[in-house]
Parts: sequence; C-alpha cells; structure tokens
Amino acid sequence: MNNTRKKLIVGNWKMHLNVHEASTLLHRLHEHISAHRDVEVVLAPSLLCLQPLSVELDRHKFRLAAQDAYYKDEGAFTGEVSFSMLRDLVHYAIVGHSERRIYFGEDLKVVREKVTAAVRNKITPIICIGENSEERKAGETKQVIHDQLTTAISNLTSRDIADVVIAYEPVWAISTFGGQIAKPDQIEEVIRYIRYQIKELYGAKAAEQVRVIYGGSVDDSNAGSYLEIPGCDGALPGSASLSYHKFAAIVEAAHRQQLKQA
Ligand code: PGA
Repeated sequence: MNNTRKKLIVGNWKMHLNVHEASTLLHRLHEHISAHRDVEVVLAPSLLCLQPLSVELDRHKFRLAAQDAYYKDEGAFTGEVSFSMLRDLVHYAIVGHSERRIYFGEDLKVVREKVTAAVRNKITPIICIGENSEERKAGETKQVIHDQLTTAISNLTSRDIADVVIAYEPVWAISTFGGQIAKPDQIEEVIRYIRYQIKELYGAKAAEQVRVIYGGSVDDSNAGSYLEIPGCDGALPGSASLSYHKFAAIVEAAHRQQLKQA
C-alpha cells in the first residue's frame, strides 16, 4: 500500500443545519483546522448549503461533497437535483448511503446508476457499502459486500475505479442505526475483502489505487485507531462532523497518523 497518499476525511452533515448554521460551522472549522498536505478534508452539507458554502470556503482547506443526487442529467423528475447540475460545485458525492438504501428504498441498481452518473459528470463517488447486524450474525457480510460493491461499480472501467472512493459503513455501527463500535480487526477484514474483489475484477493496480475509507460512529476518541488500520485511507464521520472540535480532532488524528507512517 502506498503510505504517502493523503488520508481522506469526509464530514457527513446529513439533514442538519440551515444555511446560516452551516456557515457558522464552516467558520469554526476554518479557525480550528489547519491545512495539511497529507490530509484531504471534505464537507458534505445539505444540498441547499452547497452553493453558499462554496463561495465562503477556503479551497486550500476544504472540498465539498453532495450527500446524494439523481442519476438522470435533466428532465421531468420533480424534486430532484442531478449530478450534472452539481458538477461545478462539488468534487465528491456520497452514493448509496445506508440511510438512502433503508429510508428511501434505493436498491443495488439505483446505486449503480448514481455511481455511473457521478463518474460521467466528473464527480468522484464515495460509494457506501455495508452489512446490517442480521447479515453479520448470519455470516453473510462478505456476500453483502460482494453484491453491493460489484453491482455499484459494474459500469466502470479500471481507469474510473482508480478514482472512486469506497466507504465501508457497517449499518450496525452507524449512529442512526444503533451505533455499535466496530473493532479495527472487523474493519480490516472487510477492507481487505473489498480490495480483493476489486483485484479480481480490475487487477492489482486498481485494487491498490482505489481509496477505501471507514464510517460508523467515528469520533475524536476512536479515529486514531481506525485510521491506522492497514489499507484504510480515511474516515466518514457523521455525528462527530457537526462538532467543530471533534471534527478538527479527527483531522489532526489523520495528520498524526500520516506523520507516523511517513
Ligand atoms: P455516524 O454516521 O458517524 O453518525 O455513525 C456516519 C455515516 O452515516 O456516514
């Protein structure tokens, strides 16, 4: 694994903060986060806040991600916003988050269409995959990861793959769904399996290049232990990203980890 590549920290603000509140949090983050060349910090506010924050944002410190978008580029799809509308605004888009899959019924095919649309519009998808607690108890984790991963990326070339981000987010570890604390060795095993799948489909180089990050109750107290997992390129905190001191501490933990590995 290439140890010198950047760690990626993505704050998923979910459906929190209006424009004014989001702007206040951004200002706090500006004050408390220093730019580190070895850490990439991405903020995923609500869709409504992307445009105003893009104007206020220090681009040396932060990039923006959408939390979702629709896979058609335009048309009669009332209420939706497309990846093509977001392409000048965001670098990344979270796709297939478990809240989208569970609350909004997004199935494997919808997630695949969204991944395809993101790549088509030059937005890097952060593809969330992960088993729920029943599936883990039944020993089906690898099967679920296999199905979610291979379907999501099935329209991509090996060139596309080198650029995407896979977020391993076990549903049982996300604060929304219970927030059990995953053990680093549980995460390491799945990250290894994700790269193995990519190697099978796209070869060793793509498996090495793809970034794999972890999400599920990541906060300032456990980020260090997750970020040192072999093959783990970063973290996707939700709740903790709404607290500027917790989020800044996670970014610092990533920087410290990079210094250790250098
Ligand atoms: P959490 O959320 O850190 O609050 O568990 C992570 C996520 O849902 O992406």
